[in-house]
Amino acid sequence: MAHFPKDFLWGGAVAAHQLEGGWNKGGKGPSIADVMTAGGNGIPRRITDGVIEGENYPNHEAIDFYTHYREDIALFGEMGFKAFRTSIAWTRIFPNGDDAEPNEEGLAFYDDMFDCCHEYGIEPVITLQHFEMPYHLATEYNGFADKRCIDFFERFARVCFERYKGKVKYWMTFNEINNQSAAPIAHHMLQEGAVLNIGDKPEELMYQASINELIASAKAVKACHEIDPDAMIGCMIAFCPLYAKTCDPKDQMEKTWADHKRYWYCDVHAKGRVPAYIFRYWERMGFNIDLSDEEIAILKEGIVDYIGFSYYMSFATAARDDNPEFNFYEAGIPGVGQAGDIVPNEFLKTTDWGWPVDPLGLRYALNWFYERYDQPLMIVENGFGAYDKVEADGSVDDSYRIDYLREHIRAMIDAVEKDGVNLLGYTMWAPIDIVSASSGEMDKRYGFIYVDKNNAGEGTLARSRKKSFYWYKHVIETNGAELD
Ligand code: BG6
Repeated sequence: MAHFPKDFLWGGAVAAHQLEGGWNKGGKGPSIADVMTAGGNGIPRRITDGVIEGENYPNHEAIDFYTHYREDIALFGEMGFKAFRTSIAWTRIFPNGDDAEPNEEGLAFYDDMFDCCHEYGIEPVITLQHFEMPYHLATEYNGFADKRCIDFFERFARVCFERYKGKVKYWMTFNEINNQSAAPIAHHMLQEGAVLNIGDKPEELMYQASINELIASAKAVKACHEIDPDAMIGCMIAFCPLYAKTCDPKDQMEKTWADHKRYWYCDVHAKGRVPAYIFRYWERMGFNIDLSDEEIAILKEGIVDYIGFSYYMSFATAARDDNPEFNFYEAGIPGVGQAGDIVPNEFLKTTDWGWPVDPLGLRYALNWFYERYDQPLMIVENGFGAYDKVEADGSVDDSYRIDYLREHIRAMIDAVEKDGVNLLGYTMWAPIDIVSASSGEMDKRYGFIYVDKNNAGEGTLARSRKKSFYWYKHVIETNGAELD
């Protein structure tokens, strides 16, 4: 029995900077991803002052999708993809971000790539800002700390909607906009909003940049509705369920505030208003956030059409006597640095990068969103980063990846069938091996397709099919009915 409607968007998701390469080709300008060095497992990436010769910048070449896209999309087509989520690199269209005119060569690149998707019956699902803002906007404006970036983003979004009208039906504004509410602060504020200088009041600045991004997002939603009424435009939230560590009411209240601080962004996107608890928090903290009545009205007009979210893991949180309120902002992410109010969850195993594995958490997530917002949902990222071993005959037996995905898809089916959630699609992360966003590694692999390139940047870039390639093809063929 098939579990999903025939037009369910099975597919995969990536981001331009993590696979395209060609960082300075076709008139493209440098993005913030182009000044981030390779880190490692547990070793953070460094942000350099411009591009410095001799440093290892893994996004400069990535997997050179810029020249291999026809071959790669053909492989997605072979798996039967109905959707391919990627982003438009802002710097291909506006190399500096504040340019008066768009770069035709960049626009033409995406025209051809989207056409290629349609040749295989694949619907492009496009994010406008996925950790790749123009570096110039970071150095000249301090990114979204400056309200002028709202207009630059709106201009970029309008150019994309006009140009790709009829070719792109599903849009998203900012990828994982809420991650800047977590540590490591500088890294996230740069990735989400191109904020290079976090100053001496980073939390206040984080809220200001977030509000400016939410206004920019609302303006883009409005513009999309005007320009292409047939398209749908959504938001993208990094969702990790935050479980209370115990049934102690204090832990439960801690969990409530954890949700507030992590997910107020979604209230703005989906309800069109900043929630009262956030206004009160700003007051209590003495934060002076610049948000005019006119901007509040814009937020109301920019309600999204669907909620996209990524799901990899869950966290547990416990109240601390010395800190009565959850503070994810000071906390870390397991594997990246654990501190603050995130505590280990004894019920879950973790990946080699310390990310807790929790398939049932995906069902929880789908229910959490649906009961709060009553909007169509899309799982736009879910996947398993692992070390893969290539056998002598060139094959890769990645049964662990299949196990991870199978359990998550089962949880998704339960959410649809038993809980009645309205789900548009599932684009796993990432169908082909690409550069890791957090660590800059190539050896943290997610793909169904192996790419011959290692952390040091060595390899032929040849593509080959892993065991999971054939498994996912069958899942799509049977519309989720056969997962074994
Ligand atoms: C999400 C991002 O946070 O997780 C992606 O939207 C990222 O860009 C993905 O690649 C997986 O994280 P990582 O650090 O393993 O690449």
